Amino acid sequence: MTAPPSDKAEIVDIGYPYADIVARTSPGGRYIDVPDDDVSPWIPFGDNAAIKHIAFDVRQNLFSNILWVKSPGVIGTHFHRGTIMMVCLEGSVRYLEYDWVARPFGVILETPGESHTLVTDHPDGVKLFGWMQGPIDFYDGDANLVETADVFWFMNHYEEHCRANGLAINKALYL
Ligand SMILES: [Fe+2]
Repeated sequence: MTAPPSDKAEIVDIGYPYADIVARTSPGGRYIDVPDDDVSPWIPFGDNAAIKHIAFDVRQNLFSNILWVKSPGVIGTHFHRGTIMMVCLEGSVRYLEYDWVARPFGVILETPGESHTLVTDHPDGVKLFGWMQGPIDFYDGDANLVETADVFWFMNHYEEHCRANGLAINKALYL
């Protein structure tokens, strides 16, 4: 196989036979201008962290966001029932259960059945982009289940903040 041609910057109508069905049924791709706080604000997540929501997909119990732990700190032990992919954007992060430290551009994969405890020792904390599927169960230090965060939890986190601050809900975040 040779690489696709890329010598011209022009739109080509490929004649996909089901384009009308796509137009009727697909939620459609989009650009989320994440750096713009009017598109998606930083919303407090505990005392030392904030979340910028990017996408909610109720069909797959899928949610995407940027998690910002603002200074050295912890996201407590949690258990995954789905698959997570995260990319470290800034700072660094590690887990008490593992022997690696994620740095910017590093990719973290988490799979169902894992529980772990997130720590950042970096003076500026960490920013993590996450594409996450399935509920996450959060536990206290005595292994009591405190809260389950699924796509509806994350939507509520976003919508409650918007309502409390008179912000419009951005429909582009809903796939
Ligand atoms: Fe995790």
